[in-house]
Amino acid sequence: NVLILDFGSQYTQLIARRVRELNIYCEIHPYHKVPQDLSSFKAVILSGSPFSVRAEDAPHPDLSQIKGHKPLLAVCYGAQYLAHFNGGSVAPSDIREYGRAKLTTILSHDDLFAGIKEDTQVWMSHSDTIATLPEKGVRLASTDDVANAAYRIEDEETYAIQFHPEVYHTKDGKQLLQNFLVDIAGVAQSWTPAAFVDTTVSELKKKIGNDKVVLGLSGGVDSTVAAILLHKAIGKNLYCIFVNNGLLRKNEFSDVLLQYKDMGLNVKGVDASLRFLDALKGESDPEAKRKAIGRVFIEVFDDEATSIKDVTYLAQGTIYPDVIESVSVNGPSVTIKSHHNVGGLPDFMKLKVVEPLRMLFKDEVRRVGAEMGIDSKLLGRHPFPGPGLAIRILGDITAEKVRILQEVDAIFIDGLRKWNLYDKVWQAGAILLPVNSVGVMGDERTYEKVVALRAVESTDGMTADWVNLPYEFLQETSNHIINRVKGVNRVVYDISSKPPATIEWE
Ligand code: XMP
Repeated sequence: NVLILDFGSQYTQLIARRVRELNIYCEIHPYHKVPQDLSSFKAVILSGSPFSVRAEDAPHPDLSQIKGHKPLLAVCYGAQYLAHFNGGSVAPSDIREYGRAKLTTILSHDDLFAGIKEDTQVWMSHSDTIATLPEKGVRLASTDDVANAAYRIEDEETYAIQFHPEVYHTKDGKQLLQNFLVDIAGVAQSWTPAAFVDTTVSELKKKIGNDKVVLGLSGGVDSTVAAILLHKAIGKNLYCIFVNNGLLRKNEFSDVLLQYKDMGLNVKGVDASLRFLDALKGESDPEAKRKAIGRVFIEVFDDEATSIKDVTYLAQGTIYPDVIESVSVNGPSVTIKSHHNVGGLPDFMKLKVVEPLRMLFKDEVRRVGAEMGIDSKLLGRHPFPGPGLAIRILGDITAEKVRILQEVDAIFIDGLRKWNLYDKVWQAGAILLPVNSVGVMGDERTYEKVVALRAVESTDGMTADWVNLPYEFLQETSNHIINRVKGVNRVVYDISSKPPATIEWE
């Protein structure tokens, strides 16, 4: 187990990703909450930070139980922090030290740089520079502009680097992390999906015993993988509820329900479409729609959950990015859209929470799912928002509009699959616009709905770019939509990136 102390850098999550890619387990903790018991951590990494160590309000954690006691790798701010407080000095730098650089000198006899050659490209992102090394500091590498690009402390397993090994642009970053964690700190590379399934299932068994657990399935990857893990641990004591809010994709409710049953899950499908439609009637404000859907979902789910006798736990498919976000140094970032599924537990459901995926990143959830034999088509599904088509029907929602959008969306998504484009796209869907446009069909003038198609590339939904879909595909899709979906006479393609646009239109 590896401890990453977060000083608020935008790259901290990336450090964790890279460490996990080495099949090593790690946890991120904010710098002001260093765990009391450090015995399970075999190595520590200090992250970068937007602060300058010279600033008064900069993070100044007590590392006395760590430095000199555990193998320590300090990155960027971490490296400056160690220098500043141990007899070295940090000064504002006159040269911009941002972007690509080359390590021109490497003292390669040190284990940290084993297998890494001079002139390797690294990524710098800092405005201060380490002017003098701390006591017992030994320089390990330099760039043309940065003399102290890497150093270590004599007689300690303490290493510091000014560049960021976690970003893709540092070509040998992964090698360096491996050198530090495996060769220097002796951490075992045993964090694999199979090992995760084994330990999680036995922990869940121990924790839950014969108690009952209720879980809401959404058809998405996270809730499905969480359900299968729990099912392995407690079998029929897991009660799954799959709510149809009437805003799912065409046939999704029946198809996915069947799939869940085939997986052996004890699942109850609840069709509450009308209740949701009713709550949404006349509502056209995006946030109000989200709130209405969130509220009805909780009501429906609660009715179902309380009808199961003696339930002790509520299981959730929370994953690591949500956890990090809620405990991060800077606190949760500003809510731009109120994503109802990270809102937490309503008071009136007095159940204990179990979150088997809370330490996993999305790609790890997929690997764990594959390990347990979940269908790759299900695991590879595009993300789909909790409020579903409600936020893709701009303006107010009616059953007829839902029907139209479901048809359009199905043609688009089926087309992506047929053209082998589905897996190249991160997320795709159709949007029903609140305007009519004039068209002509045969000799008739039409005055019907406009739909927009949206397909984006992304890694985490935080930033996204529109996908350059082939014209031939767009042409065929547009023809199919206009010929087959009554009520639509115009199709447009959304070519906006995020930022400044968002992925959804509402
Ligand atoms: P935006 O539109 O904010 O979307 O660029 C980023 C990602 O989040 C999804 N999204 C939601 N997911 N509830 C959800 O569960 C919501 O209210 C919601 N709004 C947006 C969106 O589909 C994309 O994947």
